[in-house]
Parts: sequence; C-alpha cells; structure tokens
Amino acid sequence: MSSSNAPTREGFTTTLGVLAATLGSAVGLGNIWKFPSLTGQNGGAAFVLVYIVCVALIGLPVMIAEFIIGRRANANNVGAFKKLAPTKPWYLTGVAGVVAAFLIMFFYTDVAGWVYSYAFKALTGAFANADSTQTADIFSQYIGSVAGPLVWQWIVLVVISVVIIAGVTKGIERMTKTLLPILFVLLLICDVRALTLPGAFAGVEYLFKPDFAKITAPVILAALGLAFFKLSIGMGTMTTYGSYIGKRENMPVNAVRVAMADTLVSLLAGLAIFPAVFAFGFQPDAGPSLLFITIPAVFNTMPFGQVFLTMFFLLAAIAATGAMISLLEVPVAYLTEEKKWSRFAATIFSAGSMGVVGVLATLSTSTLSEFTVFGKTFFDLFDFASSNVLLPVGGILICLFAGWKLGPATIIDEASNQGALNNQVFLKFLTIMLRWVAPIAILLVLLNGLGIFKV
Ligand code: PHE
Repeated sequence: MSSSNAPTREGFTTTLGVLAATLGSAVGLGNIWKFPSLTGQNGGAAFVLVYIVCVALIGLPVMIAEFIIGRRANANNVGAFKKLAPTKPWYLTGVAGVVAAFLIMFFYTDVAGWVYSYAFKALTGAFANADSTQTADIFSQYIGSVAGPLVWQWIVLVVISVVIIAGVTKGIERMTKTLLPILFVLLLICDVRALTLPGAFAGVEYLFKPDFAKITAPVILAALGLAFFKLSIGMGTMTTYGSYIGKRENMPVNAVRVAMADTLVSLLAGLAIFPAVFAFGFQPDAGPSLLFITIPAVFNTMPFGQVFLTMFFLLAAIAATGAMISLLEVPVAYLTEEKKWSRFAATIFSAGSMGVVGVLATLSTSTLSEFTVFGKTFFDLFDFASSNVLLPVGGILICLFAGWKLGPATIIDEASNQGALNNQVFLKFLTIMLRWVAPIAILLVLLNGLGIFKV
C-alpha cells in the first residue's frame, strides 16, 4: 500500500534488535524440550549430526528466502504473497502459515504453561529431595489434572498478549533484547554445573560421538521437522519478522547468526542435560518427559540443586516466551493489515482462540487422554501436523516461490541490498539451493518419513 496517509509500519530499529527478535523467535522450547528429547529418542550424536546438516543445507536457505519475501513486500505473511504475486494463488502459502501458527500455539502454550508452573514450583521448593519416582508422580499428577495446566496456559497467553499489544519495537524488540542475554547466562551457569559433575563425560560423548547405524528415514524426517520448528521457518514467522527488517540490514548474515546461535543454544541445553542424566544413571530416552521428570530428579542429586533447577526452568520459560511472541505476531500482523483490525482486537482474538482450542491439547493428558484422531491425541496431532507436515510443505512452497517466482535477479537484488553488499556469489549458490536442492530434499525426506515413498 503506498497511499500517502497509510500509517508507517513499525519495524526493528537496530541490527542488534533484528538479531534479538529473530533469534528470540528461534530459541524456544525447541532447544530445551524438543531437541534433547528427540536426541535421546533417536540415538544421540547421529541425530545431532543429521540435524545440523538439515539446518545448514535446508534451514538456512529457507530462512533467508523468508526474510527476502517479507522485506521485499513489506507486508504480513499473506499480504506478502499477494503483493509479490498478485494474480496467483501463492497467497495460500501465507494462509497455511497462519494456520500453522495456530496449530503450534495450541500445544506450545500448554507446554509453556508446564514450564512456567515448574519454574514456580522449583522456586517454592516443590521438588526438594524428590527422586525420579516422586518427580514422575508430581508430573503425572500435574498434567493429569485439569485446572492447573489450563490456568497456566492462559497465564502464558496473557503474558505474550501484553508484549504483542505493546508493538513491534516497544514489545517484541525490547523484550527479546532484554531477555536473551539473561537466558544465555543462566544456560551457561547450568552447563558449568552439569559438566563439572563426576561422570559427566558420558553425556558429552552421547551428544558428539555418532553411531551412523542409527540414521534411518524416520530419524531424518524427525531431524528435518525439528530444523523447521527450531528455526521458526516454513510458516511465515520469519517472513513476518523479515518485513520489520530495515533496508540496510544484512539479512543473510543475520540468518547465519541466528542458525548458528540457535544451534549453539540447543547444544548447550544438551550439555546441561545429558551429562547430568548420565552422571546420575538416568536414561536419556525418556522423551518429552525428560525435561519434567528426569531433570528435577537429576538436579536434586547435586549441590544447590533447587537453585539450578529454578534457573533452568526460568530460562526455559524465557525461551518459550520469545518464541510464542513470534508465533502470535503472525496472525496479528495478518489481521491488522489484511483485515484492518486494531492491534488490540487482533491480539485478543488470536490469543483467545489459541486459549480456547488449546484446551484440546492441554486436556490430552487428562480428560481427553483416551480420545485420538488418526491414532494421536490432540496434542500429538497438532505437533505432528505442524512440525512434520505443514512446515516442510510450507518450506517447499517458500523455496519454489523465492527460487522460481521471484527468481535469481530479485533474490540477489533484495538480499544484497541492491548490490550494496558484496555477497553475490553466495546468493547465486543460494538460488540453486532454493530452486533445486532444498525443495527436492524436503520432498524426499517428507515422503520417506511419512512412509508414502521409499528410496
Ligand atoms: N522456534 C521455536 C522453538 O524452537 C518454535 C517456533 C516455531 C516459533 C515456529 C515460531 C515459529 O521453540
């Protein structure tokens, strides 16, 4: 929209602000909850290796493509496709992204609620001296109850709504810039503690010494799905944030920084968890409950365990909050720009519906635990349908849109800041990745992992 009385769009104000917001979106429960539990379930270092390859070869190009689409169009995730391809149904990619944002939020706010409540419980000493049987009891009692998890889920939604209503600069940028450094410091403290435990090395080996026999098609799909989820790509979060990036910012460099820093946070989280798990003789493959059952028990066995446990859940809460802010911003940007809603109304409506439908995910561990669709509880269905289906499919469409519809000239123009940056060789390589390598790889992994097609 170029009409002269259109309100100027808000945006991120500094290079550091761009990094904080985009990294704040990437870093989340994905690093602290999903990464360790998937690594544990899929055999350790081999999974980590496949994951890193997915991030570098597929995740990074898709992230840059999203930045390009968003900044070029200077619009929300649906509006961006409409602007750049006015006559074509490409905008449906944007719509799918908004749908994915809701699907993810339905279960993400549930787990974030567990994390908030665990930070609180740890602070009040609820886990003091509890062994793993007791922490398992505490967890199953908690997620098996109705009121507690729902109330915490809604508290989470209120917190992020406040940030989103405050706006892109004063809400998102300021919040992530303040919280990310705190998160890093807390994480490093937990790492030092875990790595100095006697017997910690087994955990380090588990993360870094791959057993290649463990790499199978479902393992690769899980790693790819995690790469999408982790980097907040395939559904328009980075497109939306890209539209807030200033014309002089170096987007490819920012994407590389985000991918590297985010992977570092995952590895640091793994290094805070696995050495402790091994040092105290726990099993690494507990899955999603690793964070909530094993970790409190593990931290209890170390000196000042309660303090570290509180810090650990606090940092998880911080991470989850930054990620959820970016998820909520996707529908909010869409509703304010395409439907002309006020930011307040768009936030209340979006967060409200997440709170209502999200109940289905939250009750999946209690009242609705027996209720399944395609053999999955609502919680697992929302998770699987988003990470392992919608995000990869969205990723393919984003690659094709950038690579073919926008094409090399536009990619190079936008991502080199109209030639001001000397990165043309890299961008030519990026175009090949977007046109061929990434979409074909994603498709093969997707079909294979879903068991539709076997190579
Ligand atoms: N990247 C976030 C995490 O790892 C989750 C997320 C997914 C955020 C998709 C935005 C979009 O926790």
